Amino acid sequence: MKKLNFALLALLSLTALSASADVANAVKLEKKYATFAKNANPEYAGPSAVDGKFFFNRKIKLANGKEAACASCHTANPADQGKHMVTGKPIKPLSPMVNHKRFSDVEKVEEQFTEHCNDIIGSDCTAAEKANYIAYLLTEKTPSTKQ
Ligand code: HEC
Repeated sequence: MKKLNFALLALLSLTALSASADVANAVKLEKKYATFAKNANPEYAGPSAVDGKFFFNRKIKLANGKEAACASCHTANPADQGKHMVTGKPIKPLSPMVNHKRFSDVEKVEEQFTEHCNDIIGSDCTAAEKANYIAYLLTEKTPSTKQ
């Protein structure tokens, strides 16, 4: 599994992500993950924001018996500022539509995906899950509160 991640990272790094971080990088990354997902499973029908939203909010029972989802820290609206469920520290909005720094550094993205997916679902997310996740985040552009 680890080996696969490094291979994926190496391939992803080949996509020249421009230094000026904006939403184009998130779109590129979404497409890249979708290509990997299709290679792994020809039946993958392309990034699905609906599946991404479901995944984002899906509560999973952790080893300690508590339930958590990506939304537990990133909040139900990824265009909003998040709040770490353990430390209470603020987290900048995850949606690249409101926070253009998101999904611009491929190494950071892979690292955070691996870490958070392991925390919540107990393994790394698949390329399909990552593509769907970014597709969903790209649809969330309206913060629900003034920040
Ligand atoms: C325990 C709290 C917590 C949970 C639960 C959580 N995250 Fe995060 N997430 C963070 C923090 C903290 C950061 C980094 C904040 C920063 O860079 O400003 C982050 C950042 C990220 C990033 C980096 C995006 C970028 O380009 O900067 C990704 C991707 C991510 N999370 C995916 C997920 C996914 C997928 C899940 C659910 C499977 C999830 N997170 C659940 C706390 C959490």
